[in-house]
Amino acid sequence: MSVEELAETALALVSPGKGLIAIDESSNTIAKRFASVGVENSAEHRRRYRELLITTPDLNASISGAILFDETIQQSTRDDVPFARYLADHDIIPGIRVDKGAVPLAGCPGELITEGLDGLRDRLKAYYALGARFAKWRAVITMGDDIPSGTCLETNAHALARFAALCQEQGLVPVVEPEVLMDGDHDLQTSYEVTEAMLRSLFGALYDQNVLLEGTILRASMILPGKSCDEQASVEEVAEATVMCLKSTVPAILPGVVFLSGGQSDRDATAHLDAMNRMGKLPWALSFSYGRALQQAALSHWSKDLAGNFAKAQSIVAKWAQANSQAALGQWNG
Ligand code: 13P
Repeated sequence: MSVEELAETALALVSPGKGLIAIDESSNTIAKRFASVGVENSAEHRRRYRELLITTPDLNASISGAILFDETIQQSTRDDVPFARYLADHDIIPGIRVDKGAVPLAGCPGELITEGLDGLRDRLKAYYALGARFAKWRAVITMGDDIPSGTCLETNAHALARFAALCQEQGLVPVVEPEVLMDGDHDLQTSYEVTEAMLRSLFGALYDQNVLLEGTILRASMILPGKSCDEQASVEEVAEATVMCLKSTVPAILPGVVFLSGGQSDRDATAHLDAMNRMGKLPWALSFSYGRALQQAALSHWSKDLAGNFAKAQSIVAKWAQANSQAALGQWNG
């Protein structure tokens, strides 16, 4: 794939008023999500739930791309249309999560490094053949006393850049995700400083490894105080801190930044995105790539009657996707 095609895919992912839906929960995570609402974690239930999300009517009005998991990209609708083909036929770009999860970082107690680089070139080739045109890698930055360390930020940035370079070599747009966790009692300022250091390290590593920024998307966490911090922040404080941090670290040539929801409620995630997009002109598109914030209300409704609530659950997904489409334009009316 040419440089122009990578850039075109990246731009399409962040076209005005559109964002991504993350449907790439690992086997462990989807097991937890189903357990939280009492749905049995069978392969057919996972397929059916992913079908519910992917075949939501008019999803393409607000969704440009869907991030799938290895199991999901191999699955099909009940009419035997592979999910990746169904998405592409409906103008939604199929993407794939390719990291293999975060494990303890040796020598750095309490910190994590994401695995999955070994054999990645061949896996990317296989996913491209299945229809994926972008890929995601998530680094997890844990907050706590004296952490994160510089070593943790740098090793994760290095892995993200290796992932990104391999993706571009294989014709997929990398979505680089350094998630600074909301867990902990850290304040807004600490979240700002850690995210700023992480993004500086990340863009340094991307530059060092010849990653083309025009063909890259950043999946970022918002600047938020830890969940157990005594002092929570207003919507405006979160929006201002996040935009300021991104402006001081993210090159203007990047086509877009899409946020993860990270455990925020659907309303909070939407309100924060909306407030950022009301702050005047920004160098890049600022949009969403939510998992939980697009899914949680729908999953909860579906769980009460898997057959009977299928269509209504889809309308709930569409409602939150549309709300975030408006927020990506700074036009959500709450
Ligand atoms: P959220 O943080 O938006 O739920 O996304 C999680 C995710 O990427 C699933 O792997």
